[in-house]
Amino acid sequence: MGVLRRQEKEISFFQMHLAGPIGNGIMREEQKRNEMIDSKTCTYGKIIWMGEHSVVYGHPAMALPLRTAKVHAEAVSSETDRLISPFYEGPLESIPTRLSALFDLIHQVRQSLDLSPQTITLTMNLPIGAGLGASAAIAGALVQALYRAKGVSPSYLELRNWIQTSETIAHGRSSGVDAAAVLSDTVLTYLKGRDPVPFQTRFNGYLFVADSGIFGSTKDAVEIVRKQMETEAGKNHIEALGNLAITFIDQVNKGMYDTVGPLMNQAQHHLRELGVSHPVLEEMIELALRSGAKGAKLTGGGLGGCMIAYADSLADLIAIRDAFQERGFQRHWLLDLEKEFAHVPVAIARAPINIALIKYWGKRNETEVLPTAPSLSLSLSRYETITRIAQSRNAGVSFRLNGIEEQAMLPRVKAFLTHFTQGEEPSGLSIESVNTGPTAAGLASSASAFSALAVAANAYFQTNLTLDELAAITRKGSGSAVRSLLPGAVAWKEDGSIETLKLPFDDLLMGILIVDEKKKAIGSTEAMKQTMLSSPEYSAWVDRTRLQFHEMKRALSHGDFELVGALAEENALALHRLCETAVPPIRYLSERSNAIIASIQSARRQGLFLAYCTMDAGPNVKVLCKQHEKEAIERWAEDHQFPIPVWSNIDRKGATLLDE
Ligand code: DP6
Repeated sequence: MGVLRRQEKEISFFQMHLAGPIGNGIMREEQKRNEMIDSKTCTYGKIIWMGEHSVVYGHPAMALPLRTAKVHAEAVSSETDRLISPFYEGPLESIPTRLSALFDLIHQVRQSLDLSPQTITLTMNLPIGAGLGASAAIAGALVQALYRAKGVSPSYLELRNWIQTSETIAHGRSSGVDAAAVLSDTVLTYLKGRDPVPFQTRFNGYLFVADSGIFGSTKDAVEIVRKQMETEAGKNHIEALGNLAITFIDQVNKGMYDTVGPLMNQAQHHLRELGVSHPVLEEMIELALRSGAKGAKLTGGGLGGCMIAYADSLADLIAIRDAFQERGFQRHWLLDLEKEFAHVPVAIARAPINIALIKYWGKRNETEVLPTAPSLSLSLSRYETITRIAQSRNAGVSFRLNGIEEQAMLPRVKAFLTHFTQGEEPSGLSIESVNTGPTAAGLASSASAFSALAVAANAYFQTNLTLDELAAITRKGSGSAVRSLLPGAVAWKEDGSIETLKLPFDDLLMGILIVDEKKKAIGSTEAMKQTMLSSPEYSAWVDRTRLQFHEMKRALSHGDFELVGALAEENALALHRLCETAVPPIRYLSERSNAIIASIQSARRQGLFLAYCTMDAGPNVKVLCKQHEKEAIERWAEDHQFPIPVWSNIDRKGATLLDE
C-alpha cells in the first residue's frame, strides 16, 4: 500500500515539476545560470529543508542556498600547487588524507584545462562539517578559480559535474543535491539523476539555522543509513522521509504553510530513529520549538552540524534567536524566505536602545526637533528593536508590534514614512516591529523603534540618505531615537548632528532595575513641553546641562569612570528636580525608586561597590558600573529586596540592516 501511495505521489511530483510550466522553464533557467556563473565568483552554503538521506535512495528533496555563507577562491600561477585556506595552508602534495578529494579535484581540473600549477587562496565564512554543503561549495569555488586562471568559464553542467565528482570522492554515496544547491540562486527540488528544478512560489516565514558546533561527518552518516537500509525498519524510515518530502513540496507549492512545521517535526522523528541526530541537535530542536518555532529538524548529513527551525512570524524568529544566544549557540543565520526567494521587496533593520547620561529635555525647534541642550547617551546591546518593512499584497499599511496588530501607533508610523516618500502617503506596506526588551518597562523603546524604522525605510525606499540626512529624519520620530543610530557613546548636539565618542572603557555595564512596569503617566514629549513652558528653573537647567555635557566629554576622554558616573547621576537627579518645578509638577520617581537611589548612594559611600544611577521618564532605575561589580550589586539588590538588575553591555553595532 505504502509503495503504491508513494508511486502515485511521485507521479504527481514529476507532473508538477517536470511537465508543467515550471518544467518548461528549465531551459531558460539553464541559460540564466550559465550567465550567472560567468559573473559569479563565489559559491554558497546550502540548506536541505526536506529530504536529506532519503534523497540518496531516489526520493525528492528541497534545498536552498544560504547566500550569507560563502566560499570564494582565487588562483594565481606558481611553481607548485599550493592551497591557502582556513583549514589547510601549504603545498597541495602534503594535504592531509581527509582532504584528498580536493587534491584529486585540483589535479584533474588542471589537467583537463592544461593549466600550470597554481596557488589557490580560499576565503570562506561557511563552516565545515556543519551540514551546510561546505565541501561542495569549496569544490565549486576551486573549479571556478582554476577556470578563471585559464581565462575561460565552465558551463553550469561542467561545474556541477566537477563538484559532483569531488563529492562522491569525499562522501562515498552522494545524491548530487549539494552540487546543485551550492550553485543555485533559488530554492530547488531535486531528484537523484535528474536536473535540479528551480522552485518558485510565494514563500512565507523564516528559517533559523544554527550550528551545534559539533563536526558531523556526512560520510559516516551516509554509511549509518546504508546499514539501516538492510533492515525493514530502516527502509520504512527512508520511505516515510521520502513521502514527507513529497507532501512537503506539495504543501509549500500550494502555500499551505501551516503544515510546514509539523512535517519538519515528523521528518526529524525519522532521522532520529535512523541514528543520524545528536543529543546537542535534539537539545537545539527542543529549544527552538519551545521558543516559538513551528517545526525544527537537523539539516544535511546530521551527527552534528546544523539545525533548522521554521518560524512564521518575525517575533517568533527573534525569540528563537535570543534563546539560542542566551544558551551560547552563537553561530546562526536568519533567513527571510519572502525576501530571499519570493522576490518581494523587504528591508529589515535593527537598532539598540540608548540610555542618556546627559539628558535631553526640551526642543528649541519643534518641527526640526532640535534640542535646547546637547545630550549624551550609551547605546545598549541587550535590548533592541528589529523592524521589517515588506511590500504587502494589499494597498494599505499594516503595523504589528511584537506580533500584535497596532492601530494606535499606525498614524505616527505612516507620518514618519512620508519623510522617505517625498510627502506621499505610504501604501502597500506590511511593517513588523519586535522589541526585545520588557516592552512595558519604559525602556526608551521609541528610541530604538524610530531608529530601526528609519534605517529600514532608507533601504526599502532606496533613498540612500547620508547619516546626517537620516539623523534629521530620525529625530522627527523621537528626539532620543537619533542617538540609537550610532553605537557606543553618542553625542547629540544642539545643531542636530550626532557623533560617536571614544569610549575608553571596555568593561562597562548598565543594569536596569524594573521598579514598575506600568506605562508612564505623562509621556516625555508632553512633559518636556510643560516643563519648558512652566518651570522657572528651565533656563538654569539648560545652562547647567550644557556645562555637564562638556565635562562629560572631558571625563570620557580622560577615561575617568568616577567622574562619568558622578556627572550622570547628578544630571539625572537635576532633571527630576526640574520636573517637580513644572506647573503642575511632574513626578516620575516613586518612593521605591527614591529608596533604591538612596541605597545605591549609601553603598557607594560605604565602599560596597562603585555604581551610579540614572533615571528617565519613568520610575525604573538604571545603574552604571563596571563588569566586576555585577555580583556585589546583585547581592545588594537581593539583601534589600530590590529588583535584580537586568544587565546589558554597550552596543557596538548601532542601527544597521540585519543582513549587514
Ligand atoms: C528622559 O526622545 O522620548 O529619555 O523627542 O518628544 O520623542 P521626543 O522625546 P523623547 O525624550 C527622551 C527623554 C529622556 C532623556 C533622554 O533620553 O535624553
